[in-house]
Amino acid sequence: MLQGTPILVLREGTERARDKSASASNIAAARAIADAVRSTLGPRGMDKMLVDSMGDITITNDGVTILKEVDVEHPAAKMLVEVAKTQDQQCGDGTTTAVVLAGELLKRSEALIEQNVHPTVITRGFQIAVQEAQRLLEKEIGQTVKASDEAVLIDCARTAMGSKGVYGSRDELAKIAVDAVRKIVEVRGERTIADVDQIKVEKRHGGTIADTRLIDGIIIDKERGHPRMPREVKDAKIALLNSALEIKKTEIESKISIKNPGQIQNFLDEEDHNFRKMVETVKASGANVLVCQKGIDDVVLHYLAKDGIFAVKQVKESDLQKLARATGAKIVTGIKDLTSADLGHAHSVEERKVGEDDMTFVTGCQNPRSVSILIRGGTEHVTQEVERSLQDALKVVSSVIEDGVVCPGGGATEIDLAVKLRKYAPTVGGREQLAVEAFAQALEVIPWALAENGGFDSINVLIDLRGAHEGPNANKNVGVNLADGKATDMWKLRVIEPLRVKRQALSSAVEVANMILRIDDIISSKKSPPSPPGGAGGHDH
Ligand SMILES: Nc1ncnc2c1ncn2[C@@H]1O[C@H](COP(=O)(O)OP(=O)(O)OP(=O)(O)O)[C@@H](O)[C@H]1O
Ligand SMILES: [Mg+2]
Repeated sequence: MLQGTPILVLREGTERARDKSASASNIAAARAIADAVRSTLGPRGMDKMLVDSMGDITITNDGVTILKEVDVEHPAAKMLVEVAKTQDQQCGDGTTTAVVLAGELLKRSEALIEQNVHPTVITRGFQIAVQEAQRLLEKEIGQTVKASDEAVLIDCARTAMGSKGVYGSRDELAKIAVDAVRKIVEVRGERTIADVDQIKVEKRHGGTIADTRLIDGIIIDKERGHPRMPREVKDAKIALLNSALEIKKTEIESKISIKNPGQIQNFLDEEDHNFRKMVETVKASGANVLVCQKGIDDVVLHYLAKDGIFAVKQVKESDLQKLARATGAKIVTGIKDLTSADLGHAHSVEERKVGEDDMTFVTGCQNPRSVSILIRGGTEHVTQEVERSLQDALKVVSSVIEDGVVCPGGGATEIDLAVKLRKYAPTVGGREQLAVEAFAQALEVIPWALAENGGFDSINVLIDLRGAHEGPNANKNVGVNLADGKATDMWKLRVIEPLRVKRQALSSAVEVANMILRIDDIISSKKSPPSPPGGAGGHDH
């Protein structure tokens, strides 16, 4: 009956790409993303300048920042951006590496698909290869270090920051990163935990990067509420409040009818009385510092100042929580409930001038695990890139402290894996071994790109490196020295990285490459036309 009548399953206008055309389009899009960031890889990599739709500029070398800022449309390209984000969350560093690797894996797969190797065979081969690579990383390449070995921690931080725009100040910054992380290390049972979210990073442009400091305490980006308040309070007893010290304004318009002048006075006295009571409560608790998340009425500030109490208002909730942890204070919701038991303690609370602004420094806190880093730098773009580099370094240092395993950088780890996987491939057998070989070849993109970005002949560098990793005198630590392009022991150059960064980069690169390879059909629904400005269309596009 139905013969000759086309059955429409998909809505009209739906686009469809199948089989080879689907995978070709996916692979091309993912490779385009990988190519875009490849030139930033390594200490000699170039930076990117990104301009958003508002005209704001970001200058960075950080893979994940670049990919977050650019507006990609192709679904496969978006998946690659996700890889960068995962890598960033897990390790802080290695985002460019993960994306470049994924792109290279796809490039090699394309060649295999052309030779009629089925994508499922390729994905299986990649899976086998990555498992072996992880085993090699753990057993043969990773080097155990002591978490207390400061030199190693500093080297890892320097390597992580070496590829960023902060190159000139990386020694000072590496030291700051290591000192900061070591302050927040905790031992819980058998595990060592270094949660870098506990480190508060503030930035102010002005001065130079060399003025960046580690502060033993918490910095709040606010000045004191009244000029008559003391600039500094020693032996601070701190109250934290998350509600306003104001008389609430009614939401609906209200009227007070007053019949004689005495009533006005009564009304004002009543208000004043309430304000005084608030200040009395603060004073009675014994607090000499008040940190408030919401507003404080000018009259209240005036009375607080009269009583010599240091108060700051409109403080961020996250800062209040950090202060609670640092000083041992409890956050109070209603001022009426404040008692001496809620107060926290710090040696000093002081307003200091940083550049043009005043900030509040809470130092000498009860909890020694509270530190902040105050970043300085010539312009906002500089302080932003310093912050990104420091975040990488902080996470890298914390990975080394938590795991205690590092590996050589400069492409040494990737080359060594490639050499060993090539030997391993024949033992796999079947067509999968082709994919294992392709995987090995793909790993070499890292030293290749490092050399290329350094202005060296990548082919020569690769030949030298392979030579150094094979034969009786093989040395697994040899990578490319970007000062002269020679194959050099990376431990001698002190270019080392946490193993966690490599492990995660490999596994996420393979995951996304495999996911893209398994797709044989792209069904995209028709784009709805953009709704007219001010139109009633309920969708955001
Ligand atoms: N002095 C050095 N000599 C040789 N290679 C280096 C040196 N410093 C860093 N590298 C290498 O540079 C690579 C890291 O480059 P880069 O920091 O640009 O990318 P990423 O860490 O993958 O991504 P991102 O830092 O953007 O998240 C690593 O392979 C590292 O071993
Ligand atoms: Mg890096």
